[in-house]
Amino acid sequence: MDHFLYRDSALFAEDVPLSDIAATVGTPAYVYSTATLTRHYHLFKDALEGLPNLVCYAMKSNSNQAVIKALADLGAGMDVVSGGEYARAVAAGVPGDRIVFSGVGKTRGEMELALSGGIRQFNVESEPEMQVLSAVATALGKTAPITIRVNPDVDAKTHEKISTGKSENKFGIPISRAREVYALAASLPGLKIVGIDVHIGSQLTDLAPFESAYEKVVELTHQLRADGHEISRLDLGGGLGIPYTRSNEAPPLPTEYGALIKRVIGDLDVEVEIEPGRLISGNAGVMLTSVIYVKEGEGRDFLILDAAMNDLIRPAMYDAHHDIVPVVEPEPGVVQLPYDIVGPVCETGDTFTRNRPMPPLAPGDLVVFRSAGAYGAVMSSEYNTRPLIPEVLVKGDQFAVIRPRPSFDEMINRDIVPEWL
Ligand code: LLP
Repeated sequence: MDHFLYRDSALFAEDVPLSDIAATVGTPAYVYSTATLTRHYHLFKDALEGLPNLVCYAMKSNSNQAVIKALADLGAGMDVVSGGEYARAVAAGVPGDRIVFSGVGKTRGEMELALSGGIRQFNVESEPEMQVLSAVATALGKTAPITIRVNPDVDAKTHEKISTGKSENKFGIPISRAREVYALAASLPGLKIVGIDVHIGSQLTDLAPFESAYEKVVELTHQLRADGHEISRLDLGGGLGIPYTRSNEAPPLPTEYGALIKRVIGDLDVEVEIEPGRLISGNAGVMLTSVIYVKEGEGRDFLILDAAMNDLIRPAMYDAHHDIVPVVEPEPGVVQLPYDIVGPVCETGDTFTRNRPMPPLAPGDLVVFRSAGAYGAVMSSEYNTRPLIPEVLVKGDQFAVIRPRPSFDEMINRDIVPEWL
């Protein structure tokens, strides 16, 4: 249930017809549903009920401040991976003690920013990072709360570009070396160990890799406690997959994921943190776009849209599938035709999908890409000097532009032509 449903043959976002948004804001545009964001957050909270927990939304999936605020107002924490994301979270009103800072390459400047503004914990990924963080914290007269991200060498069985928990990946420290690395952390004056962190990848559609990774973390908790460390938090990362098609996909539900966590963590007496991104924001957003041309090709017809790879890079980058549906619901039994659906950008990679059966469409018709709320707008660019597309948030029968489309002048006036040229 994602609140993008047909009513009387017109596709709505909650109580707003998407055609109204297209008429007001223009296309292409991202449209998000507050009710869906809220629902998804509560799915995790309900699934973890009974365990002390903090759901830290992975802001990288969709970092618009309105989205962050909607979730933070419900009590969500945030998982940030850069100084910029930290600044966004703070600007959206998230208190520092609900922000965890992940990432393999935190700079001194980012550490200073977070230590000065307040931070729940840094998820540290290497010994050099640990040394620098200790020095930065000491210089500021502070102590940095840390977990250490361990790499459990588990195959997440997801796309290779978004798998992170194998020993060949750049993330975390090998779990086999954890005890010596925790000993080093304990010896550094600017750090305070608070727990362990693990994240094995994104869009996982099987619970087994989570289970293997979490079992290793539980074993490590016992060992580290025996070594004298205080392990009071386990950050179990994000990664639970979502259905990208309506028909044949049924990834595990948050309730099943929560039950797994409770089963594996048991009575370990820890606070659990999780960092879901995609499951909260993915199906809470669509990309709304119009057909510019229908072009007859040799053996195939092209649907040329006003959205392109710079607006939604996932198909080009990960061969990702997004359901694409018309805003006017097709009559039952209408004959579907195979289209190659493409954008206007000047490269063949700007192909969203090939041979996709669609009802007949004409220039000006509106279609949406479903499941585009996560890793959509945040990964967009101005390639081909195409303005970043607006973002719109719907709540009930209200909607608001939460990031406007820049004008050409706003876009090109950022360039500076040196006087001496
Ligand atoms: N925590 C950490 C440390 C992460 O690296 C990530 C995602 C998450 C949490 C959130 O994972 P999620 O719950 O959203 O799966 N651009 C790619 C996905 C990259 C994910 C990167 N890390 C895509 O469009 O599929």
